[in-house]
Amino acid sequence: MSSDQLRFPDGFLWGAATAAYQIEGAPEAGGKGPSIWDTFSHTPGKTFHGDTGDVACDSYNRYPEDIEMLKRLGVGAYRFSLSWPRIQADGRGEPNSKGLDYYNRVIDALLEADIEPAVTLYHWDLPQALQDKGGWASRDIAEAFAEYAAVAGEAFGDRVHRWITLNEPWVCANVGYRVGRHAPGLKDAAQAVAANHHLLLAHGRAVQALRSTAAGTQIGITLNLAVVRPVSKEAEDVAAEFEARQNGVYLGPLFTGGYPDRLTSEYSPAKVPGLVQDEDMTTIAAPLDFLGVNFYFPNYVDLARPDGELRRAGPGIVMVQPEGLPITAMNWLVEPSSIRELLTRVVAPVTGELPIYITENGSSWYDYVTQDGRVEDYERVSYLQGHLTAVHEAIAQGVNLRGYFAWSLLDNFEWAEGYAKRFGLVYVDFATQQRILKLSGEFFAEVTSANALPAE
Ligand code: FCB
Repeated sequence: MSSDQLRFPDGFLWGAATAAYQIEGAPEAGGKGPSIWDTFSHTPGKTFHGDTGDVACDSYNRYPEDIEMLKRLGVGAYRFSLSWPRIQADGRGEPNSKGLDYYNRVIDALLEADIEPAVTLYHWDLPQALQDKGGWASRDIAEAFAEYAAVAGEAFGDRVHRWITLNEPWVCANVGYRVGRHAPGLKDAAQAVAANHHLLLAHGRAVQALRSTAAGTQIGITLNLAVVRPVSKEAEDVAAEFEARQNGVYLGPLFTGGYPDRLTSEYSPAKVPGLVQDEDMTTIAAPLDFLGVNFYFPNYVDLARPDGELRRAGPGIVMVQPEGLPITAMNWLVEPSSIRELLTRVVAPVTGELPIYITENGSSWYDYVTQDGRVEDYERVSYLQGHLTAVHEAIAQGVNLRGYFAWSLLDNFEWAEGYAKRFGLVYVDFATQQRILKLSGEFFAEVTSANALPAE
């Protein structure tokens, strides 16, 4: 190792991540029930090109190939999610043994390969039967989620030692219930704010369920937190409002004692009469073993340049694309210093000594296969290099970051964007299901084996 390499702390956990609906396919295998994403993706006009997760990466059948790719990446952990309706077809009651068997096979094959399973209980594929009863907008969901967590803890807790209750509750509540771009496709502010609270309550109940069924394991939650940069003094208040809606509304109840005061009843469950009941805030604040953070891009607010608007993030909040920064195929800004700011300014002051994991980070580009069968995704290599350098700086500044999971192991079903947007370190030819390790995968394998970033 040359001295100009950036070394990561001993024991730093390298991983890659996926989610059930994005990779598994096999929507009816073994008696699986429909999820809200089955319904939504089959509704005309909801996804790019009408794409669905019916086949996706066929990982229900091809998980051994996925694990071969994980071995080539040299990762110590694989973050994947359980499909709730594969385990409980309608979301309640006796578990489906065929669904449990599938995940038993995956977990055993990972352990055989010396790769730690890091399991997300909920990555957006709610059983449709529960949506029919109100979904996350209904308080009963917390009880159902706790039962499901107990089923998973009992079945897998002997071998799964790292659990993530929810993936990105902000996206579930806001993209699913407020703007309707994701399943269940609702545009209803009252349901969105209710969903926000019930997601957190369900998280707290799931922590209790896992503590008793999978005692001694590591339990956390994954949030997608925002870095919002005002370009002028006047934009500061708008930036703070945006961060309160996306960060404070989760970090507050989990770590600092409640929902942010500045939010109105459109965004704060605490200001909706009857929504927050006695004991809820105590349940939600149950101590965790780690916080998972997903991060992709920074946001800028420039009130003087509404013409530069890239996308609207909510009423009264105008986001702009600063000149000179690259953007990915998703139209997401690339600015690596933002992940350092996230860890040092947004996360560490709230979490203190608690271990932090980046549970997703990555980028989408228009990848293609060359005539000699390679995928030379230099943009993704550069994104990774920049973000890992910034992550390393955050650790040097004292952030207790314990691991980094790349999004994603595979190109997969990118929700409303269908198969048009590729995030994988491994290319998937969706016509043949052939997998090709990209140049970025080779780069990541170098990083994981050296536990260091190669000198540029
Ligand atoms: C995150 C999701 C993940 C993937 C990436 C690109 O918000 O958790 O499933 O879609 O974005």
